[in-house]
Amino acid sequence: AAWEKQVRRSSTPRRPNGFSVLVTGAAGFVGSHCSVALKKRGDGVLGLDNFNSYYDPSLKRARQNLLKKHQVFIVEGDLNDAPLLRKLFYVVPFTHVLHLAAQAGVRYAMQNPQSYISSNIAGFVNLLEIAKAANPQPAIVWASSSSVYGLNTENPFSEIDRTDKPASLYAATKKAGEEIAHTYNHIYGLSLTGLRFFTVYGPWGRPDMAYFFFTKDILQGKSIEIYKTHDQKEVARDFTYIDDVVKGCLGAVDTAEKSTGSGGEKKGKAQLRVYNLGNTSPVPVGRLVSILEGLLKTKAKKHVITMPRNGDVPFTHANVTLAHTDFGYKPTTDLPTGLSKFVKWYVGYYGIQPRATKETQPTNESG
Ligand code: NAD
Ligand code: UGA
Repeated sequence: AAWEKQVRRSSTPRRPNGFSVLVTGAAGFVGSHCSVALKKRGDGVLGLDNFNSYYDPSLKRARQNLLKKHQVFIVEGDLNDAPLLRKLFYVVPFTHVLHLAAQAGVRYAMQNPQSYISSNIAGFVNLLEIAKAANPQPAIVWASSSSVYGLNTENPFSEIDRTDKPASLYAATKKAGEEIAHTYNHIYGLSLTGLRFFTVYGPWGRPDMAYFFFTKDILQGKSIEIYKTHDQKEVARDFTYIDDVVKGCLGAVDTAEKSTGSGGEKKGKAQLRVYNLGNTSPVPVGRLVSILEGLLKTKAKKHVITMPRNGDVPFTHANVTLAHTDFGYKPTTDLPTGLSKFVKWYVGYYGIQPRATKETQPTNESG
C-alpha cells in the first residue's frame, strides 16, 4: 500500500549502520525537533502522533509540514492502538524508539486526569508490550520529567535523589512510567533509558507553557499571573533550551545498548538508565517575565498570586553530571539567548511585529 511505502521510505537510514527510529509524539514540540535532527544526520525516522487537541492542533499540523520537507512521515494513530503498533513493528525493524508522546502539562491534570492515565500509563505499557514482542527488540529512550522530584528539596536534583512525593497526577504518571520501565527491563531484557527533561522551551514550543502564553498575553496587553509558593517565595525553574535537549536525546539514543531479548524472551542483562537533562541554572519566573518584556519591548501587566495547590513544585534544578559523563551532555544556551530565539520564531510564525510602546522600558538582556 502507499501508506506502507511511505513508512518504509521514511524509516530507512541513509548513513552506513544508521538507526531506524520510531519517534512517538513526532508532531509535538520535542518530538518534531528530534525527528528533524535524527533525519538530518542520516538516520531513518518514522513518526507516530494522534494529533490530539490538548493545544492548537494547527501548530501540530505545521510541525508535520516541516517534517514532510525533511522527508519524515508521521503515522496518525494512538499509542493505545495495539494492532497499529504491531503492524508498524512488523513492517519496520526499528533499532530504537524515542518515546515522547504523552499527556504533558502539570496543571491540566486537575481538569482531565483520565488523559494522563490513558497516554502516560496505558499507552506506555501498550508500546512496551509491542516492543518486547518485536524482533529485533528496539532500545527504548523515553521522556520522563523533572516533576518526579516533586516536593523533595535536595538542591540540585541528582538521579539518586528521592522521588516519592509527586505534587501532581502528571508527576505521578511520569514516576509510574519509571517503575514500569524497570519491570520491562527486568522481565523482558528491554533496553530502557529515561530522560528527565526540565521545563523545555524554544521555537515551535508548546502554547500551554508559561513562556509561550506570557509572550502572547504581553503582546496583546493582557494581564499575566505570576504564581508564588504558599510561603510567598518566588517559584523558579531550570528552563532548558530545546537544542540542548535534542543533543541530549540523540546522545542517549547513541549510547543505548541493544536489548537482550527478542520475540518476548529475556536473553541476558540489558540496561535501565535514567538521566537529568536540565540547564543547571534555575531562574525565577519573575526574571523570565522581565527578559520577555525586554525582548518584546512591552511592559507586562503583572498580577502576582499565591497558588499553593495547583500541582506546581516550588523550584527545579538539575545536576547533569551523569548525562555529561555517559554521553557528553552539556547545556550551552542561557535563558536570554534561548528566549530571543523563541521570540524571533513567534513573531515570524504568527506574523506579529513587536513594537515599542509608551510603556517600553528597554532592558539590556544580552548575557
Ligand atoms: P507535546 O505535547 O508538544 O508533544 C507530545 C505529542 O504526543 C503531541 O503531539 C501529542 O499529540 C502526542 N500524543 C499525546 N498522547 C498521545 C497518544 N496517546 N498517542 C499518540 N500520540 C500522543 O509535548 P512536548 O513538550 O514535546 O513533550 C514531549 C515529552 O517530554 C512528553 O512525554 C512530556 O511529558 C515530556 N516532558 C516535556 C517537558 C517540556 O518542558 N516540554 C518537560 C518534561 C517532560
Ligand atoms: C513544564 C512542562 O509543562 C511539563 O510538561 C514538564 O513535565 C515540566 O515542565 C517538567 O520539567 O517536568 P512547568 O515547569 O510547570 O512544566 O512549565 P510551565 O507551565 O511553563 O510553567 C513554568 C513556571 O511558570 C512554573 O513555575 C509555573 O508555576 C509558572 N507559571 C505558570 C506562572 O507563574 N503563571 C502561569 O500562569 C503559569
